[in-house]
Amino acid sequence: MSDIRRIAVNTGGGDAPGLNAVIRAVVLSAEQLGWEVVGINDSYDGLFEDDGVVRLDRRSVRGITHLGGTILGTTNRGNPLNWPVEHPDGTVTYEDRSKRVVDLLREHEVDALVAIGGDGSLAIAQALSELGLPVVGVPKTIDNDLASTTFTFGFTTAVETATDAIGKLHSTAEAHERTMVVELMGRTAGWIAMYAGVAGTADVILIPEIPYEIDAVCEKIEERYSSKRSQFAIVVVAEGAYAAEGSMKYRETAEGQQRLGGAGKFVSEQIHERTGRETRELVLGHLQRGGGPNAYDRLLALRFGAAAVRMVQEGRFGTMVALDPPNVHAVPLKEAVAHIKTIPLDSDVIQTARSLGICLGDR
Ligand code: F6P
Repeated sequence: MSDIRRIAVNTGGGDAPGLNAVIRAVVLSAEQLGWEVVGINDSYDGLFEDDGVVRLDRRSVRGITHLGGTILGTTNRGNPLNWPVEHPDGTVTYEDRSKRVVDLLREHEVDALVAIGGDGSLAIAQALSELGLPVVGVPKTIDNDLASTTFTFGFTTAVETATDAIGKLHSTAEAHERTMVVELMGRTAGWIAMYAGVAGTADVILIPEIPYEIDAVCEKIEERYSSKRSQFAIVVVAEGAYAAEGSMKYRETAEGQQRLGGAGKFVSEQIHERTGRETRELVLGHLQRGGGPNAYDRLLALRFGAAAVRMVQEGRFGTMVALDPPNVHAVPLKEAVAHIKTIPLDSDVIQTARSLGICLGDR
């Protein structure tokens, strides 16, 4: 018998389609066991606000499985392990607020936390777990770059959005005999670019795992144009892709933060300069995170949420629920956050791309 009476749930980092489905599964599964559930707004920020911890019950999660975003809000700023404190003289110092987070959860009589997040948020969850907080993690990110799980929820929805976009680019590229370059999300791992690029029948796919040679890319473009039937080309670039002789491209946001950006524009300019072909580029950006989850991600998110509550019931703390097809099981949180999961270079999807004659930027 578990002596759990109340659990908390939060969503941290960039949003991903399926967050609400996890929340609903957590709440309904916990209610079946007679537990109360509270949600922390905006990752951990709600703990430091007056009304930032909210009671969640069957009614508050009704009709949210198919909705994008998160009813709890999220943030990828203000890490409690490295909290920025502004001083009157304008200087900023950083302090570790993790102990305070654990104390505040205890003040709210929370017996365990279900933390839904990507690598950053789950690293915070792991630190809280080391301080003695009973934590179970749920892996979330459209980037699919979390170790120890085959898929994170949100990934296949993002792939669908990106594949659809690549499909639409074909007709306009062909009509104008242009090379269209589309930049997709994926910082250190090119999962979205590789899956959507192959499914969308791109001619070139550039990912961070394979630093590219622009000459190899241009040769592929010229090969396309050498056939009368294919006077256009589609190039997919993960935002973290970089030239073997170069480095990742960054841009500054309106808030002055450094974010990856510009990889697609750079490739587009290089292709134009070297081949003289007319090129256009676009950045699909946050569209990949938007909208509701597809059926696969809805189901995966519901399975993850229900499994997380089972892990809490079994007292399996310091773990993360993970997909190991066909089942969901628990893995050590510590291992899951230890490294980023990149695409293995000998994986089937990379071999498939090569077999189909898709250029991956190498020779
Ligand atoms: O969710 C992960 C991710 O989509 C990355 O691929 C991307 O670099 C990042 O989030 C952008 O996040 P934001 O614009 O919210 O800071």
